[in-house]
Amino acid sequence: MTHETAQVDFNIENSNPTANRSIAQVLDARLSRRGLLRGALGATGVGTLAASGLSGCASTGTLPAAATQLGFKPVAKGLADAVVVPEGYTAQIVYALGDPLTANTPAFKNDGTDTDFGNRAGDHHDGMEWFGLDAAGKPSATASMRGLIAMNHEATTDEKLSSFFIHANGGTATLPRPATEVDKELMIHGLSVVEMQSDGRQWAYKPGSTFNRRITTLSEASIHGAARGSEHLITKYDATGTKARGTLNNCGSGKTPWGTYVSGEENWFGYFFRDAKDDEARKKDKQVQALNRYGRKAGAASRHGWESAGSDDRFVRWNNSARGATAKDDYRNEMNTFGYVVELDPYEPKAALRKRTSLGRMGHENITFARVSAGQPVVAYMGDDARGEYIYKFVSDAKWDPADATGANRLAAGDKYLDKGTLYVARFKDDGTGEWIELSMKNPVIEGSSYFEFKSDADVAIFTRLAADAVGATKMDRPEWAGVNPKNGEVYITLTNNSARTVATADSANPRVYTDMKAGKEQKGNVNGHIVRLAERQPQDSDFRWDIYLFAAEAGADRGRVNLSGLTDENDLSSPDGLVFSQASGICWIQTDDGAYTDQTNCMLLAALPGRVGDGGEQVLSYGDKQVRTHVGKAQTSATFKRFLVGPKGAEITGIAETPDGRALFINIQHPGENTKMADVNNPARYESHWPANAGYGAGQRPRSATIVITRQDGGVVGA
Ligand code: FEO
Ligand code: CA
Ligand code: CA
Repeated sequence: MTHETAQVDFNIENSNPTANRSIAQVLDARLSRRGLLRGALGATGVGTLAASGLSGCASTGTLPAAATQLGFKPVAKGLADAVVVPEGYTAQIVYALGDPLTANTPAFKNDGTDTDFGNRAGDHHDGMEWFGLDAAGKPSATASMRGLIAMNHEATTDEKLSSFFIHANGGTATLPRPATEVDKELMIHGLSVVEMQSDGRQWAYKPGSTFNRRITTLSEASIHGAARGSEHLITKYDATGTKARGTLNNCGSGKTPWGTYVSGEENWFGYFFRDAKDDEARKKDKQVQALNRYGRKAGAASRHGWESAGSDDRFVRWNNSARGATAKDDYRNEMNTFGYVVELDPYEPKAALRKRTSLGRMGHENITFARVSAGQPVVAYMGDDARGEYIYKFVSDAKWDPADATGANRLAAGDKYLDKGTLYVARFKDDGTGEWIELSMKNPVIEGSSYFEFKSDADVAIFTRLAADAVGATKMDRPEWAGVNPKNGEVYITLTNNSARTVATADSANPRVYTDMKAGKEQKGNVNGHIVRLAERQPQDSDFRWDIYLFAAEAGADRGRVNLSGLTDENDLSSPDGLVFSQASGICWIQTDDGAYTDQTNCMLLAALPGRVGDGGEQVLSYGDKQVRTHVGKAQTSATFKRFLVGPKGAEITGIAETPDGRALFINIQHPGENTKMADVNNPARYESHWPANAGYGAGQRPRSATIVITRQDGGVVGA
């Protein structure tokens, strides 16, 4: 499973027990006053949060005031149903599943009877970015006290079709699904935009802000880029192949150099049903090969059975089968309208979403931009998160004009830089170099491919995985987030884990194959994941040098074969996923979405001060007759890598956004309690987690995904 959901209760705690008590007391007091907990941790006395004048946008090329040390005591691994942060820090809950986004929406009861999710926070908070507002409510690159957070709502905690925590008795786990339940589920996915403000002591979201917004599976989106107008995007909804509905399973995020939000559609294919006889119905349609490659074989069941809820179009569209006379008469192409990077302008509440198809169709994680330079192309890096998938980059045709950083029509800038350009896929060589291979009809391997019939660049944009197969790209251990080091432009990509990696397929860039034990059971492959990094002379170059920055591992694992980065109890981790460099401090924040080490610890956030590609050395891993040569970054120490936060039970730590001054760090706690059984939905004693209710946030006891904000009690830059 590429992504797990969980629901749990947790308490926000501080590793200082005195602070814990004061936090709980304050939360209780506020809860009783307002009914809506905004997570004030009043004992903390957060200092004045004046903007420091540092760049708020990674992409401007401004160098951060790099932290020279990680100025906090590491947090211990743990299994508490709480958020634990270092001494001297405060974590406050600010925005949870179901929270009202309008002044007229009723408070969230959290008992499964709530409706109107078009006006509430969605579920499974994931990637998010900060968009500052000045005192007049206008866009500001330096505002650190007031701003918008744009956020992904990736999925729901579910079992047997039903998103059970949002239905009164857990919902219906058999087909057909009732329309009333499906309507809730259709609205709970997508994106949200929410206004946040600090009064200098505590943060709160603004329920009545005119910027607040939901984008759901039903919101209109326009199709841009190479695939616009393709025959493979024609549906009953739009015969021109230029419009689509909604966005789905949005995972990682990014912020463009022109100040908009970009979001990756990840595991969208799982929501579609295909008839068992659909291969025959499609006759010689080349899409049968593509559907199989993208995980939807004929007869595939859908994750929630949305297609079963009735004859209305909003349900039928999830049946991706050829049922009518032509593509205009059915939804055989509906899946092709998902799998893209989507762009949203959070400052424009009426602007429609744009699907940027030139960045390829895959299980997108996040999108990170290289530092921009005037007169040079804009470059973005992306991972495709599934076992054995690839790492991509996009290079724009248009050359960067610094005036676009503050332009008024931000989506027009998106058209300029993201609609025309070249997509590349990475091939790693065992000598520590690699190449970016062009995916377009200009590449003769694609133009003349006998593997798949590419007729145009639109085909490459829609069937991107097949194009990458055709050119022999390197199959990676599940590429997740990419991040660019603002100090030197090097690109870090997390490879979260790969249970399918074997000695036969081990290679230089994916070199580990081992067995780890969890609760008496063997786990095999690359159990804990690693982080690869690339160095390019210029971002648009077609070659790079690489090494493996970090091998995730348990501290006690074999240092010659598994724990190759020398991790200790202060920094060991499993399944790195989110990875973002702070523009304020230069700290590399690493988040985990783990199932392998969860017998010992909940998921976590760690802080790193990385070096550079080549700061370690070559290493050879021996597997009997096979030797795998790899390139390992310098070993970690407690000075370069430390655990900063541990989350509640069953939750993944994901999504990260900082204010430009680096003094407030927003983090998402996704799916606490995800291992709760649907049968126990009305039995809180059996919930895996009770967070955030057990931290005093909101009504009911059902666990909820939520955003927290972390500040330093002395008002300083987080982590430094
Ligand atoms: Fe949604 Fe690859 O994590
Ligand atoms: Ca283990
Ligand atoms: Ca992820």
